[in-house]
Amino acid sequence: MEINKELSYRAAEVDRVIYSYLPSDQHGYQKIVMEAMNYSVLAGGKRIRPILMLETYKLFGGSSKAIEPFMAAIEMIHTYSLVHDDLPAMDNDMLRRGKPTTHAKYGEAIGILAGDGLLNYAFETALQALDIEPDNKAVYKSLQVLAKKSGIYGMIGGQVVDIEADKQYGISKNRLDFIYELKTGALIEAAMMIGAYLGGATQDEVDQIEQMAKKIGLAFQIQDDILDVVGDEAKLGKTVGSDAKNQKATYVVFEGLDKAKDDVEKLTEDAIKILIDFPYENIFLEKLIMWLVMRDK
Ligand code: IPE
Ligand code: IPE
Ligand code: MG
Ligand code: MG
Ligand code: MG
Repeated sequence: MEINKELSYRAAEVDRVIYSYLPSDQHGYQKIVMEAMNYSVLAGGKRIRPILMLETYKLFGGSSKAIEPFMAAIEMIHTYSLVHDDLPAMDNDMLRRGKPTTHAKYGEAIGILAGDGLLNYAFETALQALDIEPDNKAVYKSLQVLAKKSGIYGMIGGQVVDIEADKQYGISKNRLDFIYELKTGALIEAAMMIGAYLGGATQDEVDQIEQMAKKIGLAFQIQDDILDVVGDEAKLGKTVGSDAKNQKATYVVFEGLDKAKDDVEKLTEDAIKILIDFPYENIFLEKLIMWLVMRDK
């Protein structure tokens, strides 16, 4: 099957899982926040993180039912990171996933609270895995990974340094790599590490997966920066030129478009090398990692 088709087929499968965990009782005086949370998640998106989680899980021959709440949780955390990233105080963007951003539709206060709601709900959801498999140590490990990679040593930490880099001239390559590894790499690492843990991987194998995912995350964010310059708004579903508008220190600004493209390919090759070193095989996962370089959305 052609990769784009296969990917949308898998995204639809993942959607069914995510939808089943979204807050369904949109009642009560606070119902606006559930509405805004569901709006931001249901707007769509590529669902790369839950797909990477599931495919890594399959790589290790996973059979634990606890994977599903984690798939939903990682997409909720990712979506909250986008809702907050788009806020006027951050990137100030009005278009996301082909629709008005959450703050544009519901106002800034509900935008903030919907993000907070999604972050908390992600943990309410992931913790359901303990009801499914209370004796599975991999569930505890996965909860630790999810918490840490989302926080100040992960995504939030990266966003902090990214925001400070706005006003800063002459950012170093080390600082730039730090931002990318944290703001984007960390959640991709979490997705794949959780897939590995729940799939039954050993600690050594999870460490290898973390190294591979770090490279994928870096490549993914560089490609995102490239698309912010050369991408098509209709395909991307978000405003192009957001980084230039915010005078962001990006990889493209630092290295130039050609070097950025080369580095995306090189990082991807390195990631694939780690993947094919495992004594197990997942051809779709290989194809997916390669697609991430070529993607135009
Ligand atoms: C966008 O992530 C933000 C980055 C970390 C680059 P995605 O490109 O995965 O966004 P969606 O989920 O498909 O909307
Ligand atoms: C955001 O990076 C990464 C997050 C943690 C949300 P960007 O600011 O480049 O993401 P987009 O381009 O708005 O999706
Ligand atoms: Mg940003
Ligand atoms: Mg942004
Ligand atoms: Mg971007």
